[in-house]
Amino acid sequence: MATPSINLSITEPELKLLQTLVYQECGMFFDERRVHFLQDRLQRRLKITGLDSFYSYYRLLTSREGRAELAALVENLTVNETSFFRNKPQIELFHKNTLEEILHRKQSRRDFSLRVWSAGCSTGQEPYTLAMIICDALAYYYLRNPLPFEMPSPKPLIPPPWKVEILASDINYSVLRAAQEGIYNENHMEAVDYAFRLRYFDKTGDKYAIKKAVKELVHFDFHNLKTEFLPQRNDVIFCRNVMIYFDEAEQKRLVDKFYRCLNSEGYLFIGHAESLFGLSDKYKMIHVNNGTAYQRIEVNG
Ligand SMILES: C[S@@+](CC[C@H](N)C(=O)[O-])C[C@H]1O[C@@H](n2cnc3c(N)ncnc32)[C@H](O)[C@@H]1O
Repeated sequence: MATPSINLSITEPELKLLQTLVYQECGMFFDERRVHFLQDRLQRRLKITGLDSFYSYYRLLTSREGRAELAALVENLTVNETSFFRNKPQIELFHKNTLEEILHRKQSRRDFSLRVWSAGCSTGQEPYTLAMIICDALAYYYLRNPLPFEMPSPKPLIPPPWKVEILASDINYSVLRAAQEGIYNENHMEAVDYAFRLRYFDKTGDKYAIKKAVKELVHFDFHNLKTEFLPQRNDVIFCRNVMIYFDEAEQKRLVDKFYRCLNSEGYLFIGHAESLFGLSDKYKMIHVNNGTAYQRIEVNG
């Protein structure tokens, strides 16, 4: 006979301790609307560790030996929902306005480097969408503008001397592994039209694998957005649907860090339900056909 699973109840002080620990570790804040989710995940982790109280669990998490368990708890608390071409109007804005402006500005300065960061990339659909869009945008740009150099044959995805770097980061190692694999099923592909499927995916059985040349543009890495050591010199940062899990103080800190992580005139893209209103006055809002982005305001002097 299976042993009935016993749920240990968590006391108010234990919950406060664990809530604060999670917040300090990764910025995720569980208010009264989401505290049940936190309690549920804590129950699961407590069972797995076999400990007999939440206070013992807290002691484990704050010990040196508890680092792996803390990482496992954080992974269990993240929400990893994502999709290709998520928020189409915003992706259109990136494609048709932002990239066009950056390519034009950079080419006139003979700077042929482009660096884009997908912060909180989950299983990879966001950075791969950006990679496909950048390849398309560069190809279309050089259809309309004379090439300042000879195009090699066969045409590479990124015309030289351009160097495109897409950094994709997350706090969750499991989603990073899936992202690195870059294999998706039909359900994931709903928003990917057939032209993109043909150009940027290989189909094996009923799965779609991101083509090697696209994969090579994206570099996946672990980064905790709570820390100060974040990737610098980005032309564009996408951080969508990540800040919604942070409180206002942490959102302000993050938006300020992003300002420092952007090149001058760089762009920040945040989620559909997120806004910089009340968080920062260092960005200018750009709103085109229902798509929104924020551009760094340069302070002279
Ligand atoms: C809802 S997903 C959003 C994915 C994608 N940006 C999109 O909009 O489709 C949020 C992601 O943020 C990650 N995340 C949450 N807190 C984080 C932190 N402190 N540092 C880095 N990533 C974090 C989660 O692991 C999760 O994969």
